[in-house]
Amino acid sequence: MIELNKIYNEDCLEGIRQIDDKTIDLIVTDPPYLINYKTNRRQDKSHKFTTAIENDDNPDLIVTYIKECYRILKDDSAMYMFCNADKVEFFKKELNKFFNVKNMIIWVKNNHTAGDLKRAFGKKYEIIFLVNKGKKEFNGKRLTDVWNFDRVVGNKQIHQNQKPLDLITQCVVKHSAEGDVIFDGFMGSGTTAIACINTNRNFIGFETDKEYFYKSIERIKDHKKELETD
Ligand SMILES: C[S@@+](CC[C@H](N)C(=O)[O-])C[C@H]1O[C@@H](n2cnc3c(N)ncnc32)[C@H](O)[C@@H]1O
Repeated sequence: MIELNKIYNEDCLEGIRQIDDKTIDLIVTDPPYLINYKTNRRQDKSHKFTTAIENDDNPDLIVTYIKECYRILKDDSAMYMFCNADKVEFFKKELNKFFNVKNMIIWVKNNHTAGDLKRAFGKKYEIIFLVNKGKKEFNGKRLTDVWNFDRVVGNKQIHQNQKPLDLITQCVVKHSAEGDVIFDGFMGSGTTAIACINTNRNFIGFETDKEYFYKSIERIKDHKKELETD
């Protein structure tokens, strides 16, 4: 029995099967990008951020995950799914099998990749698919499909792929209401959970990596303490 407002240290494909059909109001999710990414920028090669995250080379996970996301979402609801430009065709093809793709939002970051320094320009963006199951109107004013948010750096960075809290909060606020249930099968450092707590939404999440799982639990505890003392 899945409880609300909990992150489970469990494979999301196992976990999602325990969620009933058409019970989730919104999905905001940041899966492995399938690029087997490891940073070369860190001097300390034993640092956790220098190894690829789990399943960064497993397209079958994404194929099944998208199908299950469609199943658990209520009719006339939305999902945001992050994706890297190098795999955009694959993600779009899989999403199109079930969902109506409404936008490919370009998240412009305040840094760019190194890569092929002489032949390719530095990539400064990531993609966020906004898709609908049926038809879902956004809340409030209409935005454009180019979003500017700074990366999380320094002491605030707990996870190598951590997404800015303001960005995730924008997704939550535009497509859900207070009291709704938001799902994220790839919680990482728990950013989706924190956005839900701050905006009076409920969350359900999964994270397989033990270290990140415990960090997300700590982050939520510390955040709740901060809110109480404010
Ligand atoms: C891109 S990161 C998410 C980062 C998150 N958005 C944040 O702000 O911290 C994807 C996460 O999915 C986790 N993961 C990979 N395969 C998984 C699976 N089958 N079930 C649950 N989590 C998984 C990885 O360990 C990684 O922490």
